[in-house]
Amino acid sequence: MSSEAEAAHVLIFPMPVQGHLNSMLNLSQLFCLAGFHVTFIISDFSHRRLLQHTSVAATFARYPGFQFRTLPDGLPDDHPRAGQRAMEFLSSVTNVTVPLFKKMMLQENFFAAAGRRPVTCFVADGLLSFAADFTEEIGLPLIYFRTATTSYFWALFCFPRLLQAQEFPFAENSMDELVESIPGMEGFLRRRDLPSFYRVDVNDPMLEKVVAVTRLIVRAQAAIFNTCDDLEGPIVAEIQKHVPRIFSIGPIHEQVKSRLTEKKEEASIITASLWAEDRSCIDWLDAQPPKSVIYVSFGSITLVTREQVLEFWHGLLNSSQRFLWVMRPDSIIGDEGNDQLVLAELMERSKEKGLLVEWAPQEKVLNHPAVGGFLTHSGWNSTLESIATGVPMICWPYFADQTTNSRFVSEVWKVGLDIKDTCDRLIIEKAVRDLMEVRKDEFLEMAQNMAKLVKKSVSKGGSSYSNMDDLVQYIKSLVI
Ligand code: UDX
Repeated sequence: MSSEAEAAHVLIFPMPVQGHLNSMLNLSQLFCLAGFHVTFIISDFSHRRLLQHTSVAATFARYPGFQFRTLPDGLPDDHPRAGQRAMEFLSSVTNVTVPLFKKMMLQENFFAAAGRRPVTCFVADGLLSFAADFTEEIGLPLIYFRTATTSYFWALFCFPRLLQAQEFPFAENSMDELVESIPGMEGFLRRRDLPSFYRVDVNDPMLEKVVAVTRLIVRAQAAIFNTCDDLEGPIVAEIQKHVPRIFSIGPIHEQVKSRLTEKKEEASIITASLWAEDRSCIDWLDAQPPKSVIYVSFGSITLVTREQVLEFWHGLLNSSQRFLWVMRPDSIIGDEGNDQLVLAELMERSKEKGLLVEWAPQEKVLNHPAVGGFLTHSGWNSTLESIATGVPMICWPYFADQTTNSRFVSEVWKVGLDIKDTCDRLIIEKAVRDLMEVRKDEFLEMAQNMAKLVKKSVSKGGSSYSNMDDLVQYIKSLVI
């Protein structure tokens, strides 16, 4: 940066959910490291929880050019913000947050302040449809950031092709047929691996919404993806035929570590935990043998039934492996107030082998030498964190991109097993034994090779590292 006054000022607006906040905050830190000013729009609800449960405030206090601006997310405080109801954010943000945001932005002269020029570029969450019209109206460059998998994005972008090829809609008994009309995914993507939004009939309003917002990307000046060439290079190449200026800079959390290490700063990444981390699980892991524990977590949105919990519990126990299980409060459907008691009782019966916590410091857990596998819902952040630490996975996807991510884990990167659309103690037991015992060496070797590749991509000379440099140059070029 040549001088304060010349700094680019980037406006960042994520959807107010954990998975999106994580990667957007890490992106913000990369921009701060590049000397940019950053204004970050966050919901009051998430902001309160971040301040309560994380060191995010201390991290960004190091960068005087960074500021949070808070707005309501449009949902009452007691809204579950989980399960299928998490999708209610799409309308509440559009109807409540966006009008307030526009007003705030115009009233505050594009967030200009002493020493801070008005914003020069808008990095919007790829789910914010208003951003395309809005930036055109006010003459601001727009970069869409798709925080989930690039392959998921591409599978939605190709909706018109699926319709034309009559591959959509499909019958429930044809879920194992291969999808042929998505370039780059022929030969391995089955109908059941498509984004879960495809599991509907024609004219489904949610599918229409997610496809429409996906296709808006062509109106942005550029796009950012949290991926790298080694993971999704061929898919990015297909998208580039429609969106020429793409920056694949992932895994973003590893890019942050790499840049901080280069600057000889402590390489701790931001986890935007909206729940209190129970650090006692690290002491418990310290007492376990190397690679002996399977870590079980289904992220911030997944809901499970009591029956599913019991199948997982029996499957884990019968596998004879040690396990550390994250069970968010209120994540069991039909909670009548007794489920935590039932769980406590289950864990009491399995305390020799397992530990149950409400929320874990996941990055630290995955990096712990005692952890040898991850039973995951295949959220993109969790998948990237597991890949970067060389931990093989068992995938039990819940919704959205997770149904696609899990297929890539098992069939493309071959770093784990996919048990989607089942929840049976025998299948779970077999998968855990396969991952942790029978095929342990094979999976570990593949996972550790992949970890090396992705770490190389975010190190000096790697593709994601160079793409980040290019992104910084591009944003500087937008400053008039
Ligand atoms: C959602 C979607 O589910 C996901 O598919 C999409 O790609 C992004 O948005 P979420 O379900 O929360 O996110 O999953 P994921 O993307 O994996 O993000 C969860 C984050 O919470 C991870 O960064 C993980 O490290 C963190 N986490 C999870 C904890 O810090 N502690 C925990 O105990 C569990």
